Amino acid sequence: MATVVTLGMIKPDAVASGKAGLIIAHLQREGFVIRAARLVRMTRPQAAAFYEVHRGRPFYDDLVAFMTSGPCLPMALERADAVAQLRTAIGATDPAEAAPGTIRKLYAESKGKNAIHASDSLENAGREVGFFFPEGELAGLWG
Ligand code: RTP
Ligand code: MG
Repeated sequence: MATVVTLGMIKPDAVASGKAGLIIAHLQREGFVIRAARLVRMTRPQAAAFYEVHRGRPFYDDLVAFMTSGPCLPMALERADAVAQLRTAIGATDPAEAAPGTIRKLYAESKGKNAIHASDSLENAGREVGFFFPEGELAGLWG
């Protein structure tokens, strides 16, 4: 499998409760390499744009409110087959349904406050990494 970069983002619930370090350690144990990271409190327009695909869904307003309630920690994460592997590592959206040992099973509070986001396709990974980390900045870090 090709080595690619995907976006993982620790959500405000997990940042606020001090779980970011545990989640980063978990990701590194599973072979993800952090290529970029920052702590950012999104504005409402930023969060609305980030989750644009969900506009109109019943949970959209709550999702935007939650994602702007405090800082998030987006990361560009690299490994072989990173997109699918990160989705597996985080587990199902609802922690009650997440497999044992997954990040959401271990650290999420609820379906809404679920600790971490992960890109769901290679196309979205490219868009979402670019949303937080301009391409030139990433190249400059490692070039
Ligand atoms: P994410 O995009 O954050 O990685 O989560 P996901 O793919 O597992 O789930 P998705 O369907 O994309 O939903 C995005 C986020 O919206 C919130 N949500 N709440 N209360 C609800 O029924 C509901 N459904 C979705 C969650 O925070 C979910 O992660
Ligand atoms: Mg999603």
